[in-house]
Amino acid sequence: MPLIEAKDLVKEFRRVRPKTGAFSTVRTLFSRDFEVTRAVDGVGFAVEAGELVGYLGPNGAGKSTTIKMLTGILTPTSGTVEVAGVVPWRQRERNARNIGVVFGQRSQLWWDLPLRDSFRMIGRLYRVAPARYAQNLDRFVEVLGLASFLDTPVRQLSLGQRMRGDLAAAMLYEPPILYLDEPTVGLDVIAKERIREFVAGLNAEQGTTVLLTTHDMDDVERLCRRLVLIDHGRVLYDGPVAPLKEKYAPHRELVVQLASPAEVVVPNADVVRAEEGRVWLSFDPRTTPAASLIAEVSAKYEVTDLSLVEPDLEGVIRRMYLEREG
Ligand SMILES: Nc1ncnc2c1ncn2[C@@H]1O[C@H](COP(=O)(O)OP(=O)(O)O)[C@@H](O)[C@H]1O
Ligand SMILES: [Mg+2]
Repeated sequence: MPLIEAKDLVKEFRRVRPKTGAFSTVRTLFSRDFEVTRAVDGVGFAVEAGELVGYLGPNGAGKSTTIKMLTGILTPTSGTVEVAGVVPWRQRERNARNIGVVFGQRSQLWWDLPLRDSFRMIGRLYRVAPARYAQNLDRFVEVLGLASFLDTPVRQLSLGQRMRGDLAAAMLYEPPILYLDEPTVGLDVIAKERIREFVAGLNAEQGTTVLLTTHDMDDVERLCRRLVLIDHGRVLYDGPVAPLKEKYAPHRELVVQLASPAEVVVPNADVVRAEEGRVWLSFDPRTTPAASLIAEVSAKYEVTDLSLVEPDLEGVIRRMYLEREG
């Protein structure tokens, strides 16, 4: 049985429509007085224990709303969710023990307390055995580099420091599941890398199941073996990264450095750029293996260096969304 399973998940938000008529205040509220947003529109997926899944989509696609239903913060309009055998919004406390949550936009930590005290309170709240607690804290301080600001009130931390603190807090009680909603947004490269390393380590060593929402394609390339792509509250793609690249960006580039500038002409590849003896060749690896193209070019020209360029994921995903929009 999957660890996380969502079926036909729908979430509508209703808001009272701003009143326009002069007498509207005395009217009862009919359905036309509400504005309905269908944030999640029939999402379904299943995540097995130990997976690390990227849950991606444009702004407003319904990612955060989905995660809020998985955590039990929101109750769906319709559809079902089971997380480790628990319906999150029905048994919020039981569900909370199974999950760690980090929302990039909002800290779960006590604003006025030093990080160390927030951790202690979480440890007590979740009744983590003292030895276990000390061991986990030591490890997180080390891996996330928390030592220099453990005694600083959360309100004084930088965004990157706070985010690392949030991550540690989410994992102190060793939940088997971790939800990350934009954990690297606004962070510098070093903080991002620390967070990626930490998440990769949790997944590899502890077997933590991770659902990650992010706009950072480096996060995805580094961490996710599987992607669930959504738009307008619906799943557009669910599967590994490679076939997506194959479908939406089938071409690869071979970059060759020639001993002296020359006009390169080879069958099965197009020159897309040339600059002082450096030539970019685009080819389709489904019909032309890279090795045979390299052999061909090296036989005809004096090649001093070469490299293969994979399509970048950001471009692939953009192309997919563009194509779907028609
Ligand atoms: N509490 C709310 N009330 C009304 N509309 C909301 C609420 N939360 C989200 N929405 C709307 O639902 C849609 C999906 O939002 P969200 O799940 O936050 O998207 P994402 O996280 O993918 O950017 C958006 O159109 C958003 O404006
Ligand atoms: Mg969001």
